[in-house]
Amino acid sequence: MENPFRYGGIVTGNYFADRTAEINELEREMENLNRVFLISPRRYGKTCLLYNFGRHLDKNGTAWTYLDLNAFPDLGGFAGAMAGFSARALETNTDRLLKFLSGFRRLRPSMSMDSDGNISATLEMSGKDKDPISALIEGMRQAEHLAAQKKKKLVVMIDEFSDVEKYNGYMVEKAMRSEIQNHFHIGYIFSGSEQSMMLNMVQDKTRPFYKLGRILALGPIRRGSYGRFIKGWLQEGGYRIDDDQLDGIFELGKDVPYNIQRLCNTLWETAAESKMISSAIVESLPLKIARQDSPHYEMIWQTATKSQKNLMIALSDDPHGQVFSKDFQMVHGIGPSSSIKASLDSLLKKGILAKTLDNQFVFVDEFMPFWIQDIRRDKGKLML
Ligand SMILES: Nc1ncnc2c1ncn2[C@@H]1O[C@H](COP(=O)(O)OP(=O)(O)OP(=O)(O)O)[C@@H](O)[C@H]1O
Ligand SMILES: [Mg+2]
Repeated sequence: MENPFRYGGIVTGNYFADRTAEINELEREMENLNRVFLISPRRYGKTCLLYNFGRHLDKNGTAWTYLDLNAFPDLGGFAGAMAGFSARALETNTDRLLKFLSGFRRLRPSMSMDSDGNISATLEMSGKDKDPISALIEGMRQAEHLAAQKKKKLVVMIDEFSDVEKYNGYMVEKAMRSEIQNHFHIGYIFSGSEQSMMLNMVQDKTRPFYKLGRILALGPIRRGSYGRFIKGWLQEGGYRIDDDQLDGIFELGKDVPYNIQRLCNTLWETAAESKMISSAIVESLPLKIARQDSPHYEMIWQTATKSQKNLMIALSDDPHGQVFSKDFQMVHGIGPSSSIKASLDSLLKKGILAKTLDNQFVFVDEFMPFWIQDIRRDKGKLML
């Protein structure tokens, strides 16, 4: 039997745990064509939730589209995708779709044909056009017109929305807000893991998106239902696990779905022969995972400066420490605060650390501290 605990990509169907309440909540919001800001720390399952919500919408016959801002380095590309994807979600007839796409002023359809002879079209900004904001607004407006014309609802999901800052954020947000306010056939979900940035966007009076929609803070998957999901799969594979060990997994993974999937995946492999799950096996999992990911951590380590390494060591020894306190700096022999600040900024930017809403600095990858402690046991101070 294949390992049912999948990680790293989008999980669907029987491999997707729970989230029923969240899907129902999104459904209620989108029925009313509201705007929702879906916010959580990294790896909590926003992208998986959006995708599975999309499948749920498919069953209801509601049109939807998903865009990941990471995929569009410039605003022109985002504008083209937003217009093209929305149109495709609303119009399934190829001829009518092409006709619709050719009616844009600022965006040009670019056709391609796959090996089966199916024509597909994307929209691009024409080379001469230097106004991507207008192109974006034209695309959004056309989507609203099309939805109105077809008497359909459309759900637009924009993932990694905090990335919008890279496109001269303020002007883009301002233009999007005034356009969105005139939409009566499209509901929007903006999703992002830069929590303070996303919250700021909606809660700061000076920002264009101020109170544009409600915040849906995605928490961990409830232990009760996630526990049943895990036990169910383990039982199907012939494994036995008791509740204490299951709790041990949730504790080790801090309830973060990615971590839990990873721990369970490794547990499945580790106990594949005996099918016996002991507490000792459960406790051995984080280090096993850390060692599997060693090449990745080594690369991070090699490119880190000495003070960045010292800070990472300090945080792996003392995850709840206040990095700017004198005590923390004395105990770990790091500082001054200005150099810690520079190291933090760089590690945050590289996505190695993240800042929590209560101003703690944590490893994005929970297993990395296990690796750091492991190599220190092996090599002592030489590693610096
Ligand atoms: N409901 C779920 N059931 C099972 N596994 C899940 C679920 N949600 C998330 N996961 C696991 O967590 C991993 C990360 O999920 P996902 O990429 O959706 O998180 P994210 O919040 O979008 O992260 P990021 O902020 O880094 O983009 C998935 O690859 C999957 O292994
Ligand atoms: Mg994601």
